[in-house]
Amino acid sequence: MSAPSTNPANTRRERYQAYLNGQEISFGTTLVAKYDRPGPRYTSYPTAPQWHEVIDTAAMHRVLAESNPQQRPLSLYVHIPFCEEHCTFCGCNTIITRKKTVADPYVDAVALELAHLARHLDTSRPVTQLHWGGGTPTYLTCAEIERLWGSIVAHFHCAADAEIGIEVDPRVTTPAQLETLRRLGFNRLSMGVQDLHPMVQQAIHRIQPREQTERIILAARQLGFASINVDLIYGLPHQTPGSFAETVDSIIAFSPDRVACYNFAFVPWLKAQQRAIDPSTLPPPETKLAVLCNTITRFCRAGYEMIGFDHFARHDDELSLALRERTLWRNFQGYSTKGGTDLIGCGITAISDINGHYIQNGKKLTTYQQALAAGALPVERGCHLSGDDRIRRHVIRELLCNGHLDGGRLRDQFGIELRTYFASELAALGPMMEDGLITIASDSLTLTPLGRLFARNIAMRFDAYLDRDLAQQQRYSRTV
Ligand SMILES: C[S@@+](CC[C@H](N)C(=O)[O-])C[C@H]1O[C@@H](n2cnc3c(N)ncnc32)[C@H](O)[C@@H]1O
Ligand code: SF4
Repeated sequence: MSAPSTNPANTRRERYQAYLNGQEISFGTTLVAKYDRPGPRYTSYPTAPQWHEVIDTAAMHRVLAESNPQQRPLSLYVHIPFCEEHCTFCGCNTIITRKKTVADPYVDAVALELAHLARHLDTSRPVTQLHWGGGTPTYLTCAEIERLWGSIVAHFHCAADAEIGIEVDPRVTTPAQLETLRRLGFNRLSMGVQDLHPMVQQAIHRIQPREQTERIILAARQLGFASINVDLIYGLPHQTPGSFAETVDSIIAFSPDRVACYNFAFVPWLKAQQRAIDPSTLPPPETKLAVLCNTITRFCRAGYEMIGFDHFARHDDELSLALRERTLWRNFQGYSTKGGTDLIGCGITAISDINGHYIQNGKKLTTYQQALAAGALPVERGCHLSGDDRIRRHVIRELLCNGHLDGGRLRDQFGIELRTYFASELAALGPMMEDGLITIASDSLTLTPLGRLFARNIAMRFDAYLDRDLAQQQRYSRTV
């Protein structure tokens, strides 16, 4: 493997080029300086810092009851927060402990939460998406996995074509766990890799030899998991275009169905473990963009399509088909073809997105368990979306998922005119049009292939809260 270098002089360049979904793109360094700023990743709109409502059990009951008449399918998310060790880059909601005895009572508490939710939901509504995320869901033993699964299927029923997925850490996942998951009906596996270079792995405190990743992918294929996803991160310490290209080529050789390649969210003011990372080892924005351009080119030339701004899917994957048909959807778990569901989140910190309401569970394990034992729901805060929030959420989702905003859909769904409702936003997009990021037609707006790289910046123009909340703005990770 080539040695990574942190010397910007080795990686700085004047122009960037990439081959993105069949098109060549090229741009200069001025764009990088212009658009590199803090900004949300928009897994929700309004973003979580804007959720100020206190939500209690009675409020959650009302939200659940009001969602039933619409009969939307359900998307069920279960958060398992535990990990054995902390990876220093990690921005997820985790509890780090080697005390495996924490898992059993946690599974009991989630079972209580599922039972409570089921009493207020019309459980004839099919579950079309079920996802266990973390932390590390394979922190659970096989027996605990079976017990948790049992408490889900005791109340809810999965559609025949449901996506049933789980996040696995290849360093701690055993063949027996994979067999158990497959037997229970899991058909999607998502695994963290981040970077295969030993020097980067050392810097992020996550040693995961290439063979470990390869073994788990082979085992999952043999067991018949229909879809395998690999997570990578660009912008980690010591990365260079050359070193990360080797990681990307190895991953392409493993042939996963999907790849998430996240922009490293470096937020040490929010995530204490990230303070172990020396900022001087992080690649500067110019190097990050070079890494990203290389990565896009390599995946797209290898038969993948770029989805949104940080995912890739094989050309024949349903995400790629949905992108071409402009029906792609995005929620807290990433991109999906299953739009129009109500998301029900269980476990500490889990978020529900139900019928225009975001509701988040509390962060403390003891409070979570005590609330459920006392017959309450562990909900804490949330946001009831206004009419304007719903419109802007639609706009931001369309731009980030499908790279296109259709005035006709806005008219049909919300009874508004793109040109008049967003007159000031469209006017403010002028410089982005001149920079070749976006094209504006009489009744639509489309991101160019180059605009996909700056999709967060474009979405920010439609965020009604950003300019009001400048202090908060500084707390987001950077867009480049
Ligand atoms: C819940 S974690 C992964 C599951 C499992 N614990 C593992 O590590 O394999 C989901 C993914 O979020 C991504 N992630 C975590 N922290 C991040 C950060 N600070 N910036 C960007 N991506 C991050 C990583 O790619 C990670 O694999
Ligand atoms: S990356 Fe995965 S294993 Fe590492 S701390 Fe985060 S959730 Fe845990």
